[in-house]
Amino acid sequence: MASLSAQIILCIALISATCLIIGVNGSAVERQREFDYFALALQWPGTICHQTRHCCSSNGCCRGSDSPTEFTIHGLWPDYNDGSWPSCCARSQFDIKEISTLMGALQKYWPSLYCSRPSTCFSGKGIFWAHEWETHGTCSSPVFHDEYSYFLTALNVYFKYNVTKMLNEAGYVPSNSERYPLGGLVSAIENSFQATPEVICSKHDVKEIRLCFYKDFKPRNCLASKTSCPKYVSLPTYVALGRNESDMGIERISGDFEAL
Ligand SMILES: *[C@@H]1O[C@H](CO)[C@@H](O)[C@H](O)[C@H]1NC(C)=O
Ligand SMILES: *[C@@H]1O[C@H](CO)[C@@H](O)[C@H](O)[C@H]1NC(C)=O
Repeated sequence: MASLSAQIILCIALISATCLIIGVNGSAVERQREFDYFALALQWPGTICHQTRHCCSSNGCCRGSDSPTEFTIHGLWPDYNDGSWPSCCARSQFDIKEISTLMGALQKYWPSLYCSRPSTCFSGKGIFWAHEWETHGTCSSPVFHDEYSYFLTALNVYFKYNVTKMLNEAGYVPSNSERYPLGGLVSAIENSFQATPEVICSKHDVKEIRLCFYKDFKPRNCLASKTSCPKYVSLPTYVALGRNESDMGIERISGDFEAL
């Protein structure tokens, strides 16, 4: 009898715990349907660093000779085939400790190229990786359930498909005077990647290239969307920004250093 009543109590405890979890999730986070495909968004520092107005410790543009000279990661985004995307899918606040072993690679290949702190889902603003995890990473279920595997896989996919190399080998090298046919750049990537990328421009400068993947990371075409690029584009060279001591002071006061 003692063990039977213990079992009943356990069952009741389990049922109410389950109900509680559903209740909390249902009210706090809007449930969104499973995503359709991934986009690996890569940014071109040559274009973005030209637009960055000032320096701070988090800005990868400002590392002098250590500043990035190849496409760096913007994010790995779960997307829908209709052109929309899910965001902020779980009540999981970014924890930098979970990816501490990846920090060297993230600093190098996935740096922020800005000083401003992007929005996060639950805490207002945070560092770049917090934004990417909370906004996009939490929507990558059932493929990823934790920060570590999400960031590690993004890095591995980035290492596997080197867009900078694909372009360089086809003769598309960074230049402030050359203009290249957009179709040529796209073909150069298609020839090695075997699928069509999406190219994002800022005026005529290439700002981002996105590679798309099925959920098992086999390449697929990105959505055929209106490109923001003209017929001829440029891949501007990177001009390392110097650290501006007076800007650094402002950043320190406004708390931009706390995170790292
Ligand atoms: C990509 O290729 C470029 C040019 O060949 C090379 O310098 C760079 O190290 C490669 N990047 C990665 C992440 O492997
Ligand atoms: C540094 O920033 C300050 C304030 O934004 C600006 O007035 C100054 O000209 C900048 N100095 C350099 C060397 O860019």
